[in-house]
Amino acid sequence: MAKSHSVWTSIRFWRQSAAWVTGFAVVLLILLTFDTMRQIKMGGKRVPSPSVINNHIDYKYSKKRGHEVPVIGDKEPFFGKQWSDEEAAALLHKGKLTSQAKNCMNCHTLLGNGAYYAPDLTKAWLDPKWKQMMPMVGAKTKEEAIAKFLQHPEMYPTHERRMPNLKITPDEAKALVAFLKHMSAIDTNGFPRGFSKGVKEFEAGGTYAH
Ligand code: HEC
Repeated sequence: MAKSHSVWTSIRFWRQSAAWVTGFAVVLLILLTFDTMRQIKMGGKRVPSPSVINNHIDYKYSKKRGHEVPVIGDKEPFFGKQWSDEEAAALLHKGKLTSQAKNCMNCHTLLGNGAYYAPDLTKAWLDPKWKQMMPMVGAKTKEEAIAKFLQHPEMYPTHERRMPNLKITPDEAKALVAFLKHMSAIDTNGFPRGFSKGVKEFEAGGTYAH
């Protein structure tokens, strides 16, 4: 007489289920890996190519997404010129290496990594304080103002805490500014939160708090 087995006690059923679930997870992970690569690749969905330093970068609230998103605008000169793709890539690379060599992350946060001793640098290029600093440091453009600040932060204190002089050369400063400008154009899902709120408070005469 054949015994009737319940499916829940069938070894074959559990083996097959395990194989299907594992197979499905593998396929899903492969698809997600490709999607992530697409999102984080330079020139991909979220991270613009280095030549974005040649464009005006705005930061606008998106109702659909519920936070701010970078808006890449018209061409504008960066340190007085338009940079070719190769030049922009080389400058950005130097900026990244300099930021590592000088360990900016030891005090600052970049794209969520780093310390909270000093202001978050993810959107520092968009900080309204640079416009105010231009006449202070004798600069005609925002990029020059940031470059001057980076070389002599002790001369232009804008926070209670001071940034030390890290002996940044003019070329390194230029590259760091490109690095900051490019970073501000990355779609970070609204991180850090509340940027516009800080800007409004600043424009109302307060200090810009990150
Ligand atoms: C020892 C800590 C320390 C290190 C290292 C450091 N900073 Fe700073 N940084 C500060 C502090 C503190 C401030 C706020 C002081 C101020 O604005 O006057 C600041 C301010 C800034 C600002 C102005 C931010 C804003 O929007 O108000 C920028 C830009 C900046 N740092 C860039 C850098 C870069 C780029 C590096 C690496 C090359 C770096 N910092 C390394 C401490 C540091």
